[in-house]
Amino acid sequence: MHITIISATNRPGSNTRKVAGYIQNFLKENLPKTDAVDILDLQDLPPEIFSPKSYDEKPKSFEKFANLVLKTDGLLCVVPEYNGGFPGVFKYFIDMLPFPASLQKKPAAFVGVAMGKFGALRAVEQMQAIWGYRHAHLFTEKVLIPAVDKAIDADGKPLDPVVLKLLHSEVNNFVEFARKLMNVAPSV
Ligand SMILES: Cc1cc2nc3c(=O)[nH]c(=O)nc-3n(C[C@H](O)[C@H](O)[C@H](O)COP(=O)(O)O)c2cc1C
Repeated sequence: MHITIISATNRPGSNTRKVAGYIQNFLKENLPKTDAVDILDLQDLPPEIFSPKSYDEKPKSFEKFANLVLKTDGLLCVVPEYNGGFPGVFKYFIDMLPFPASLQKKPAAFVGVAMGKFGALRAVEQMQAIWGYRHAHLFTEKVLIPAVDKAIDADGKPLDPVVLKLLHSEVNNFVEFARKLMNVAPSV
């Protein structure tokens, strides 16, 4: 099985990327060695994708990002809160993906991170509505990390043992959810 963690901002040095890195390490330690876990970091998107021409014709450099989403068995999205919502680049990325195959029946879960006290609840719920519209298989157990600058260590690991336990629970249960769906639903 293959899981992809989306780090849903292109801000350099983001806390989102740190949390995504922690989740990847956790999964690498806990999944069977035959399974794979990649990070899709929106910071790595090729600049050409932001040309208005991309709506009609995707640059070749975008193919590997689209293929990663198409082939993966589950998308675990770490989403920060920007101005009371998700980062615009995350929605733009979705708009650039092949339609409808990319999100249709794709197992998906969300983790929210924010400086504020609601831990990106708004951003996660807004994204869940969009992914629901796109017929993703939403896994609704979610972890929200408020005051994230003080809540994680340098490797993105939550410092609060309760939050850490909730994160491990979400990630483990999501993998189980995605594994079950692999056997019943094709990704398109
Ligand atoms: C453009 C921008 C808008 C932001 N708006 C909010 C916000 O509405 N609410 C909030 O709690 N934090 C907000 N923040 C702070 C982020 O939540 C904070 O940077 C946190 O570390 C997660 O974002 P990061 O992954 O970019 O680090 C904003 C940050 C940026 C860069």
